[in-house]
Amino acid sequence: MATSEKLVGTYRLFHLIRAGSVYEIWTVRSISENTPYAMKWLPPGNKYTRQAVEDLKHENAVGKNINHPSVIETYEFNTTSNGAYLLLELYKFPNLKQHINAGYRNLHPKAKEIIINAATGLTHLHEAGWIHRDVKPDNFLLGENADVKLIDFNLCHKKPSTLSKLLRSKAKVQGTYSYMSPEQIRGEVVNVQSDIYGLGCMIHELISGKPPFTANSPAELLQRHLRTKPRPLTVTDKNVKPEFAAYVQKLMAKDPNDRPASMKDVQMGIRAQKLFYNPPEALDNNSSQEGED
Ligand SMILES: Nc1ncnc2c1ncn2[C@@H]1O[C@H](COP(=O)(O)OP(=O)(O)OP(=O)(O)O)[C@@H](O)[C@H]1O
Ligand SMILES: [Mg+2]
Repeated sequence: MATSEKLVGTYRLFHLIRAGSVYEIWTVRSISENTPYAMKWLPPGNKYTRQAVEDLKHENAVGKNINHPSVIETYEFNTTSNGAYLLLELYKFPNLKQHINAGYRNLHPKAKEIIINAATGLTHLHEAGWIHRDVKPDNFLLGENADVKLIDFNLCHKKPSTLSKLLRSKAKVQGTYSYMSPEQIRGEVVNVQSDIYGLGCMIHELISGKPPFTANSPAELLQRHLRTKPRPLTVTDKNVKPEFAAYVQKLMAKDPNDRPASMKDVQMGIRAQKLFYNPPEALDNNSSQEGED
């Protein structure tokens, strides 16, 4: 891990957790107290655009009013002589994508709790009036005992009003292709059902190791979301119960009206499911799961 002597405002950067395409996530400490935080930092330079600053400010506006154990805490936004930053609760665990890549089958014994906790965080965001619009394994941190923290409010939109639904205004198409709902792809106004679709894709990946669709080009991938029915999870894993596999497909229904009405419903829907015939066992750390289908 990289270390640095850099100061951003009154915070010293310690460890680089991740350098993304625009922002860097660091472990930081205030110069006046010892508590560690996470900082989403926009360094000065060619990535420092007005849009990137506005997006960070927006993340702060979304996160600062949300207080729930399954959602990361947001503390402050600031611009300094050394870039702009968002100060967050530090949750020192890998994201769910990293856990999946390290061995998705190891997650199966606690898959049900992970899904319910992820849905609980999203329910809280929805109840606060926001749609996440970028639900994917990279945007949940997974700690011990299936605890999760929802992160990354960059693409959050206000829940659409009845008027905006009637106006059917075109939205900018944003999100991550592997998890993007058909209505989001079409640039329509998105509602909670779009996050339910993303969660369905995420569950598919948690259980099978892969998102529901892969393709050779982004255009083909988007077409699959629009037209192709995902393969049921029972095809890749005989231990998966058909009722659960069917429920995950319902979360990924092409028509948002065919998905559950709310994320709260999804929580209850998952709670009522038995995911596997036999209790899954965690594999030992040496067994490779690469290349399995
Ligand atoms: N509060 C935090 N505590 C610990 N790790 C974090 C925290 N926030 C983010 N991370 C790590 O940094 C990664 C990127 O964070 P985030 O999704 O907010 O940024 P991003 O700009 O969307 O990044 P990317 O360009 O990769 O999409 C997360 O997937 C996670 O691994
Ligand atoms: Mg992200």
